[in-house]
Amino acid sequence: MIEQTLSIIKPDGVKKNLTGNIIQLFENNGFEIKAIKKLILTKEEAEDFYYVHKERPFFRSLVDFMTEGPIVPIVLSRENAILKNREIMGATNPKDAAEGTIRKMYAESIERNIVHGSDSLESAKFEVSFFFNYFDII
Ligand code: CMP
Repeated sequence: MIEQTLSIIKPDGVKKNLTGNIIQLFENNGFEIKAIKKLILTKEEAEDFYYVHKERPFFRSLVDFMTEGPIVPIVLSRENAILKNREIMGATNPKDAAEGTIRKMYAESIERNIVHGSDSLESAKFEVSFFFNYFDII
């Protein structure tokens, strides 16, 4: 099934000038870029985006990290986009990530892990519409 998923190049990935490399990886893996932008989240926006984690001990630190600099949200499309993107990203903790994955290659820690990717159809819908409206997605 052709799906859409949301990827975010996080502040650590943008700061390390990895935006181009990561987009290239997506294109090399058959993803189409349907929408893309660069922005800085407010604390409130980051809290809303990660509301599912609001009771977690790392929530405040995650919000601080996600607001420390620009991010690049991207709408990606391909067959099984959600699962395939998660494969390319690797495990949340770079220590557990497979060789060749984005997080294995570039991430410093479980928090500063370079990219985010939607984990289900339901979260993809919420996350895509968090950053983009219908007319932004080509
Ligand atoms: P992401 O895939 O964006 O989803 C939630 C984020 O919270 C995750 O990537 C990490 O950046 C962060 N995170 C998850 N688990 C932990 C943890 N145990 N400690 C700190 N940050 C975490």
